[in-house]
Amino acid sequence: MACHPGAGYWGVNGELPWIENTIARSLSWPGSYHNASCGWVISNLLVIYEKQARGFPKPRYTHGALHHERRYQLQTKPEEYPGRKADLVYCMKSGDLKIAWAKQYMPVLSSIRRRFDEEMPFAGMTIGMALHVEAKTAVLVETLAAGGAEVYITGCNPLSTQDDVSEALNTREGIHSYARRGAGVEEYYAAIDRVLDAHPAITIDDGMDLIYRVHTQRREVLDSIIGGCEETTTGVHRLRAMAREGVLAFPVIAVNDTPMKHYFDNVHGTGESSLASIMITTNVLIAGRRFVVAGYGFCGRGLAQKARSLGARVIVTEVDPRRALQAHMDGFDVMTMDQAAPLGDIFVTTTGNTGVITERHFPNLKDGAILANAGHFDVEIDVEWLAARADSITHRDGIDTYLLGGKAIHILAEGRLVNLATPKGMGHPIEVMDLSFAVQALSAEFIAEHGRQLAPGVHDVPSAIDEEVARLKLAALDLSIDRLTPEQEAYMSSWTIGT
Ligand code: NAI
Repeated sequence: MACHPGAGYWGVNGELPWIENTIARSLSWPGSYHNASCGWVISNLLVIYEKQARGFPKPRYTHGALHHERRYQLQTKPEEYPGRKADLVYCMKSGDLKIAWAKQYMPVLSSIRRRFDEEMPFAGMTIGMALHVEAKTAVLVETLAAGGAEVYITGCNPLSTQDDVSEALNTREGIHSYARRGAGVEEYYAAIDRVLDAHPAITIDDGMDLIYRVHTQRREVLDSIIGGCEETTTGVHRLRAMAREGVLAFPVIAVNDTPMKHYFDNVHGTGESSLASIMITTNVLIAGRRFVVAGYGFCGRGLAQKARSLGARVIVTEVDPRRALQAHMDGFDVMTMDQAAPLGDIFVTTTGNTGVITERHFPNLKDGAILANAGHFDVEIDVEWLAARADSITHRDGIDTYLLGGKAIHILAEGRLVNLATPKGMGHPIEVMDLSFAVQALSAEFIAEHGRQLAPGVHDVPSAIDEEVARLKLAALDLSIDRLTPEQEAYMSSWTIGT
């Protein structure tokens, strides 16, 4: 058949031009775009091509093994992408396709990756990660591997892993993924243990499960760790609690707390992606509905604003008087959850706290109320109570309907992160994660260089890193900004100039 190369193809030294020629030849075989059997040739050639471009040794695949690769997706014909090298991505497997899609909208991480490729800041180092294993994370993982790291990764939530992406990561040299969607608690922690078995020098967490495990069950791993990075608010809260008790054994950078992360990621990322996930899972109209947001922090603010822009009538619940007042002056109705329970049509919790919607509220909800959580852990809505008391439970894709006293209560994604854990949840928009993961990559580089000089505890992202990420993003957008004149600099740093 035209698109099966002979065994001889595999013997030609593994030089780059050979790979390029073979890809080009495969694509020019007549009718190859509608022939699924060429998928395995091209997708694997692309993996080999990328690895060789990065200086990795020759592939260890055998011809036979390639035959057993699964799940191909055919892309649009190359001629439908005039002027683009889209032909290089067509016929790839679904995980590779997702990663390639994300990569094209991540210019900041791409430019960092180019520098890492040359400078190899992680040469000889192992990085252990527990993050949501999906396409944007894969681009971060590849960036760290490009910098010379051996990367071991698993999930940070049992329902947020995309198995095809995890599988694709495992085809990359120097990358090992143990994440699986739907892992039970035992498997979840077994995967974390496998990451720790590699004795990472740097940890990258989203929610602090990796660091928790190191400090409780795997203390022998502490010796190898220089430092870590933490992605989310809840993880930083847990780290600060550890630091307060004097039990945090190494320095960790609070990536979440830096403006280039939470101004964009928590506000716009969680806001847009949670709404998108609710809409695609339920297919209900947001406009005109009473939309209750619990917690007016960074995530809650994004959700409330974006729900309002879709026409929802938004109610905010809070425990912090300053944030409640801010919500009021931003034009939202502010009340307690007790008051909001009988009014709301859709509820989203985003407090990072526990027991926000509980047995006190469930009986007062409207028939058909939809409940979702965007906070890190599945403790904000007391789903366990509901499951124990419900007259019946109906499971749909991403929606569990509990019948309680004749009323239906719909819980999305089992009360886990709605933007990631619903079957179609894609997580934050790509451009947002480009910024957050650029901060992660540069913070990891900072730990590699300076971690040994830092005291154990929670550290801010150095502002030079934050500014660098903003500068790279502005450059990618082709936007210019003004510069301070010498007089302005002098004025801003002076205390003697007054009226
Ligand atoms: P934040 O600390 O800025 O805001 C949380 C707000 O909730 C605060 O204003 C607090 O006063 C309020 N709150 C606490 N307990 C409450 C209660 N019982 N009722 C009403 N309000 C209450 O935190 P941020 O950055 O908004 O993060 C919130 C949660 O979302 C965290 O768990 C964080 O890890 C998670 N997160 C989730 C993301 C996602 O992809 N879904 C992305 C980023 C963060």
